[in-house]
Amino acid sequence: MKIYTKVKDLQKDLMAYSKFGKSIGFVPTMGYLHEGHQKLLNEARKENDIVVLSIFVNPLQFGPNEDLDTYPRDFARDEQVAKVSGVDYIFYPSVEEMYPKTPCVKVFVTGKSDVLCGSKRPGHFDGVVTVVTKLFHIVQPTRAYFGLKDAQQAAIIDSLVADFNFPIEIVKVDIVRESDGLAKSSRNVYLTEEERQEAPLIYKGLKQLKESVAKGQMNPFDLKQALCTFYETNLHGQIDYVEILSYPDLKPISTLIGQTALVAVAYKYSKARLIDNVLIQGGKETK
Ligand code: PAF
Repeated sequence: MKIYTKVKDLQKDLMAYSKFGKSIGFVPTMGYLHEGHQKLLNEARKENDIVVLSIFVNPLQFGPNEDLDTYPRDFARDEQVAKVSGVDYIFYPSVEEMYPKTPCVKVFVTGKSDVLCGSKRPGHFDGVVTVVTKLFHIVQPTRAYFGLKDAQQAAIIDSLVADFNFPIEIVKVDIVRESDGLAKSSRNVYLTEEERQEAPLIYKGLKQLKESVAKGQMNPFDLKQALCTFYETNLHGQIDYVEILSYPDLKPISTLIGQTALVAVAYKYSKARLIDNVLIQGGKETK
């Protein structure tokens, strides 16, 4: 496994592989790897000749009062996880390497970003698509892997690839959960002991909603109300949002019948803001 910190060095090496027609699987991350990332790496390993992992905490996607400075980082541990996951190349650039000057050109998201995390974190997805565009140009992957925990991000990346004609297949990988149901996230380390104990209820609420859908409740307004009531009654943090939208268009819907619907939650604890979701297909969960 090789580690590169310079764009030019990585590009030089990868170009040799592309010339021989080898496929490149790319997993972009911000590090502090967990089993969710490992699943992305495993999928990439299965489907490609070469696996490239990037680790870069991208300042452009953090707002002024967000956790850029405290975002968990542990490169030594990430290196071990990458090794056991069969990664060939880690790209681990500095901020100066990725943004030597204040960018003169950025990418802006014009759809799918006025809802969910996009409406709560202004500019976040512009920062995401700008860095992903740079990373796609640097790595030139055959396939790139994104987790469905960030379902809105995955939908926006689909549009980025379609709108800018990147010849890249986007592979979306299911959420990985702790044994008690909590979605794996680098930010789970921010939870206090009490918060960690009750946080699995976020997914419990989503599962109950799924059960209501299975029993025939197809009205998004009523489903959302019931989920909010469950959270308000059982959790001690704060709902940031609970939304039911079409997927991947992320538009409001008046019924779940015949739709792929995303039920998405963002929930705030003292230091952690957790997100989770389920996708429901025409009244049934897709996974
Ligand atoms: O999902 C993430 O970890 C980040 O948003 C990404 C895609 C690596 C871009 O910085």
